Amino acid sequence: MAALPGSKAPFWRRAPKLILRPLDYFEDNYRRYGSVFQVGASSPPSIYVADPVVIQGIFQADAAQFHVPAQNVGSGLTFLLGNQSLLLLDGERHRRHRRLLMPPFHGDRMRAYGDVICTLTQQAMADWHPGQAFNLRAAMQDITLRVILKAVFGLADGDRYDRLRQLLSQLLEGLGTPLSAFFIFFPGLQRDLGPMSPWGRFVRIKAEIDALIYAEIDDRRRHPHPDSTDILSLMISARDDQGQPLSDGELHDELMTLLVAGHETTASALTWALYWVHWLPEVGDRAHQELDRLGPDPDPLAMASQPYLTALCQETLRIYPVAPTTGIRIVSEPMTVAGYEFPTGAVLFLNIYLVHHREDLYPEPDNFRPERFLERQYSAAEFLPFGGGHRSCIGMAFALMEMKLVLATVLRQWDLALPERDRRLLKPVRRGLTLAAPGHLQLVPTARRVVPPQAAFA
Ligand code: HEM
Repeated sequence: MAALPGSKAPFWRRAPKLILRPLDYFEDNYRRYGSVFQVGASSPPSIYVADPVVIQGIFQADAAQFHVPAQNVGSGLTFLLGNQSLLLLDGERHRRHRRLLMPPFHGDRMRAYGDVICTLTQQAMADWHPGQAFNLRAAMQDITLRVILKAVFGLADGDRYDRLRQLLSQLLEGLGTPLSAFFIFFPGLQRDLGPMSPWGRFVRIKAEIDALIYAEIDDRRRHPHPDSTDILSLMISARDDQGQPLSDGELHDELMTLLVAGHETTASALTWALYWVHWLPEVGDRAHQELDRLGPDPDPLAMASQPYLTALCQETLRIYPVAPTTGIRIVSEPMTVAGYEFPTGAVLFLNIYLVHHREDLYPEPDNFRPERFLERQYSAAEFLPFGGGHRSCIGMAFALMEMKLVLATVLRQWDLALPERDRRLLKPVRRGLTLAAPGHLQLVPTARRVVPPQAAFA
């Protein structure tokens, strides 16, 4: 293959910018080298792809065409999720786990989660008071953690639940700083230098979480809840094609994956959505008008199917996608896609951020404009906040439903305002492998809202 354009600088020279200013890093490369470019001089090459035609070909290719990395970022995540996590599995084991994990995330199940999401959001908002600013990220993380614990374990109270909630918050807060990303990109830094060292603290919190998860699995095996619809109950009773269940170790790693992948990401997306709604008055007004028309006590599914609310969530995930790239795909056999030849071992990063900022797809891409999603349809390779193909996010429907219902519940109950200092265009910062709003962002409740009953007929 003729070498692709791109910077030949070694990883250690590129890493600081990639880690600390990822969007500048992506945009600079895109401007200089185009929509398919190589980074570094390694052979086989590492390649970023921001061309929807190429991405489409990759999403449609056979699953056997790619594998996930055994080293680098893959092993960096192993410390958190274990090595039997869907995110890190390949081939037949990946297929088997995906089939066992998918059912709780499909169609009818979403209905059951609707009421739960609204109720848990109401509970979390009980601590909000007029005039008292609160940290937006922490508030959203609190809600999404409550939701995922309830959905995954069926837990909403009790000592184990309280402790898990506390420990998971601490763990992810510790890993959420831009600097902690170095632990993921450079696994050699993962050294336990005692309980006060960053990694030592992490190891101890993680050990306690592991013990609580294994205790919950053990309890459920001894005392099954036959009528429960939580994800753990469904996973314990699930059987693969050979009639085999998931082992305790497999269950643990998948539970940890769902807990981490399932609430951090959604908390980031919700933080951004509430920022946009309160930074741009026309967006807030339109969202309120749509929700007010539903009257005082709407069905969660009616709220979730509102077109502007849906477009608002899509635009939130477009402009600053939580995951700037999809998971890494390594080419298993040489392949040609849209004229590009990718050799065996080529490391592909599908760049969600760059695709979402292409002028030809999204005119004025730096402007937040939900209407663009009402005006045209985007293909799976043009709008891809949840990745795609055989490794697409299994929580996509759940996350979208959760985003819409939390937003609707908050907006219907409170008038909120951004403090003066945050009424400006904010840029994302790194949070582990993901991007998020700056951690200091706050909102101030100004008044409780009352939805006039006649609004339903307006
Ligand atoms: C706004 C919220 C979310 C975003 C932006 C997001 C984004 C992503 C992305 C980009 C991927 C990689 C896809 C690829 O490589 O093609 C992914 C994978 C995954 N996500 Fe999500 N996700 C979100 C919420 C969730 C939720 C709620 C869950 C579960 C409760 C979840 C579980 C997973 C899992 C298990 C995978 C790995 C799938 C596989 O490798 O087969 N995610 N997600």
